[in-house]
Amino acid sequence: MTARIIDGKTLAAELIARVADEVARVGRDHGLEPGLAVILVGENPASESYVRSKTMKTVTAGIRSSIHRLPETTSEIDLLRLVAQLNADRDVHGILVQLPLPPQIDPHKVIEAVDPAKDVDGFHPMNAGRLASGLPALVPCTPSSCIRLAKSAHGAQAAPHGDTRERVHMPFAGLEAVVIGRSNIVGKPLAQLLLGENATVTVAHSKTRDLPSVARRADLLFVSVGQPELVRSDWVKPGATVIDVGINRIPGEGGKPRIVGDVAFAEVATIAGALTPVPGGVGPMTIACLMLNTLRAACTIAGLRKPAV
Ligand code: GUN
Repeated sequence: MTARIIDGKTLAAELIARVADEVARVGRDHGLEPGLAVILVGENPASESYVRSKTMKTVTAGIRSSIHRLPETTSEIDLLRLVAQLNADRDVHGILVQLPLPPQIDPHKVIEAVDPAKDVDGFHPMNAGRLASGLPALVPCTPSSCIRLAKSAHGAQAAPHGDTRERVHMPFAGLEAVVIGRSNIVGKPLAQLLLGENATVTVAHSKTRDLPSVARRADLLFVSVGQPELVRSDWVKPGATVIDVGINRIPGEGGKPRIVGDVAFAEVATIAGALTPVPGGVGPMTIACLMLNTLRAACTIAGLRKPAV
């Protein structure tokens, strides 16, 4: 079998185009201009690159954006002060504090300081709790991206998720989903979304016994561990859908760094039914989901109906 390659770039561009249409409509009909504020502390090169990609896409989506760059030595209190300022700013509808933060800053304190209505990362305990309860919430972008990409391989248009009461398409009902990785950013919220889709969900992690045989149960396999090419072809059930969240820089030919995922792509492509590439899979769709979250946050704050995207 040769897997169908899930084209995250094209699917993300389609979603951003739909977000842009809705942004234009709310501007025309309601004078609403969605705005995103991104905070970057320090000079982590990977974070710099992610923030650049995120803010570039706001232009395509028609969303106003600002980047707030703070030095590596920034104190927790100064960062909390900036978050409070952005919470109070009526032109800002989404606030994203890029992680990781330097060691003198407690990320949990910062995440809890963001107004849950502007929490476009979906990391605030209020949004995490609402998601776990099946209530409308701002949902973390990477798990949303994983669901949309997996759905694209299961013959369904991505349904609105984040509001579990409005879900229509249920292509994952009864399927075995295995999530490898239990982070607050990806693994845990992804498991909640999959439960909401009526999948049977296993969350595996570094202490799981016989990880390959657990992975082999999956009709839907999601991998977010940050270990280059951990998942080999003998971890994958024939025909499974495999979503690779990993972005790992490894030395390539001539010492030039190469980006690979957590899945051994060429090998797994011979057995999976559908597979995301790295780069060009989860990454671009995650940014598209951030644009959608910013639009949704702006509509909710303005008291408008949920946008039809
Ligand atoms: N660092 C790695 N992934 C993320 C993310 O999704 N949001 C934020 N804010 N920081 C990150």
